[in-house]
Amino acid sequence: MYCKRISVENFRNIEKCEVEFSPGVNILYGENAQGKTNLLEAIFYSSVCRSFRASNVGEMIKFGEKHTEISLDYRDERRDNNIKIQFIGDKKKIAEKNHLRAEKMSDIVGSFRAVLFCPEHLSLIKDGPSERRNYLDIAISRISQKYIHALQRYNYFLKQRNSLIKSAYHDRATFDATVDLWSERMADEAALISKMRYEFICRISPLVNQSLCRMTGEKEQTELVYRGSAGLSGEEYLDSEKVKQRYVELLSGSHDREIGAGATLWGIHKDDLEIKLNGKNARIFASQGQQRSLALALKLAEGEITREEFGDYPVFLFDDVLSELDETRRDSLLLFDTDKQVIITTCEAGVLDRISAQKRIKVEGGRYFEEN
Ligand SMILES: Nc1ncnc2c1ncn2[C@@H]1O[C@H](COP(=O)(O)OP(=O)(O)O)[C@@H](O)[C@H]1O
Ligand SMILES: [Mg+2]
Repeated sequence: MYCKRISVENFRNIEKCEVEFSPGVNILYGENAQGKTNLLEAIFYSSVCRSFRASNVGEMIKFGEKHTEISLDYRDERRDNNIKIQFIGDKKKIAEKNHLRAEKMSDIVGSFRAVLFCPEHLSLIKDGPSERRNYLDIAISRISQKYIHALQRYNYFLKQRNSLIKSAYHDRATFDATVDLWSERMADEAALISKMRYEFICRISPLVNQSLCRMTGEKEQTELVYRGSAGLSGEEYLDSEKVKQRYVELLSGSHDREIGAGATLWGIHKDDLEIKLNGKNARIFASQGQQRSLALALKLAEGEITREEFGDYPVFLFDDVLSELDETRRDSLLLFDTDKQVIITTCEAGVLDRISAQKRIKVEGGRYFEEN
């Protein structure tokens, strides 16, 4: 997959721009606060209809403006396509694919496929389990509608069950009469989701390891292990009936504790993904440099799976990660296969001499100047 061109109007500090990209490596370079990440954000938005840093649409509309437009041309395995996104005021969003208006924004998600890696992703390794669940959810959602729907149902049941728990103080009778119903429904979805998480982890773990080995010259090894909240061992998660039973038991056996805590204590919203580095838990033992290469390996592996599923690589968007990686890792990072398109931002002039890029774009005050 290859992003050919983007035009943007009134997005962040970009009043109006049109930028063309090449297949292969594209570098956006310039001083801080010029609009490098802003352009990457616009590209990424066209892929998932979500920003990786704005919590609402209003934040992305250029100060003082009311209408934002992003139009992105890309080529997939079959043809040229266009995605168009508009923000009207800070509430209304419109998406079009190939000039046909989508009913919902989510209808175009996944058409243009991009994988983003930014410094915040380092928290994948060191922070709490929610970051890693988020990684799993995004990566699996990319390849499975079934997963997206199961997750939506689960979250709905969880919300219902949590509000029931909160109301149990005043109305224990209603709680006792209905809680098992919600537990049962949650357990059903939890069994499906944990099976899919387990299968996905088994599939991606060797790919992450491959990427890491390449980056570190075989010095480091990694393995991903599913730590489901049901406390079962890996393969047991393939047996949905067993997982469901286990969750029903856990949920029915802790009502008083749950009322005390004011929330559901068991379920896939408590899962973790353990990342092992050379046999040890990376969360505890990985150095800064190791965390960076691991996080990057996770992202590259996400790209490999996308290729297995759809026949070609997604576009890789790397925001400011070159300066974060050390020399050897950086060099091997740059051994990109020519069949991948990469769009990288950097504010380090030195980086430019070391990378052979198909295209360099200088960024200044929300304007983009192509060099070749
Ligand atoms: N909604 C907005 N309207 C106008 N400018 C914005 C908006 N949001 C952010 N900016 C500006 O964008 C600039 C940051 O751009 P960014 O792409 O993050 O910089 P960098 O080149 O360092 O990656 C800042 O100057 C910030 O004030
Ligand atoms: Mg930036």
